Amino acid sequence: MPIIAPSLLAADFLHLGDQCKMLNESEAEWFHLDVMDGRFVPNISFGLPVIEQIRKTTRKILDVHLMIVEPEKYVEAFKNAGADILSVHIEACPHLHRNIEQIKSLGMKVGVAINPHTVTSALSDILHLIDVVNLMSVDPGFGGQKFIEFTLEKIKQLRTVIDERRLNVLIEIDGGVTLENARSIVNAGADVLIAGSTVFKSADPITAIAQLKVIK
Ligand code: DX5
Ligand code: ZN
Repeated sequence: MPIIAPSLLAADFLHLGDQCKMLNESEAEWFHLDVMDGRFVPNISFGLPVIEQIRKTTRKILDVHLMIVEPEKYVEAFKNAGADILSVHIEACPHLHRNIEQIKSLGMKVGVAINPHTVTSALSDILHLIDVVNLMSVDPGFGGQKFIEFTLEKIKQLRTVIDERRLNVLIEIDGGVTLENARSIVNAGADVLIAGSTVFKSADPITAIAQLKVIK
């Protein structure tokens, strides 16, 4: 069964406490938190003070997705804010190996995110060093976009490499995940489904999460 990671980008920010409570009562294992800087991506979301508050509401895993340039400047601050998994974008990191080591040295799990157009083979030399690959299935920056179909092939490619090399790396799919396409995503080999709109725009988020959870 996939791990479900609702993205709070689609939550009602005026009632964030209630939304976190709802997730705590759901079958979601992770909270996915999208941090945007208006430079790496053409949008600004939320940052450290918000994550600090969310941390106080939950013992579930905080999966923090940094869509920012120069993430090394903030890695320690995100650790202090309560991140369990910290993902950086390969496209934003000319010294990716150094970024990975920095995140690990602070005791967090490391994720590397790749945009839809970035080839999966770009990960091959660092794959054994990380815990999670965030495969973007939309262009990062906004919730509520349409799933880009060709990324299904990238899930399969990565699944094959991870299995062949017997690595302990989770594949998470980020963007445009719906109740309709989740089965093909899981069948292609994804371990973690990130879902913003599908969860928070649903009339019944707890049920939407439960429905994603039983997909196989
Ligand atoms: C997009 C973010 C996603 C986004 C997913 O840049 O990384 O995590 O919140 O939202 P949905 O599920 O609505 O596509
Ligand atoms: Zn994300």
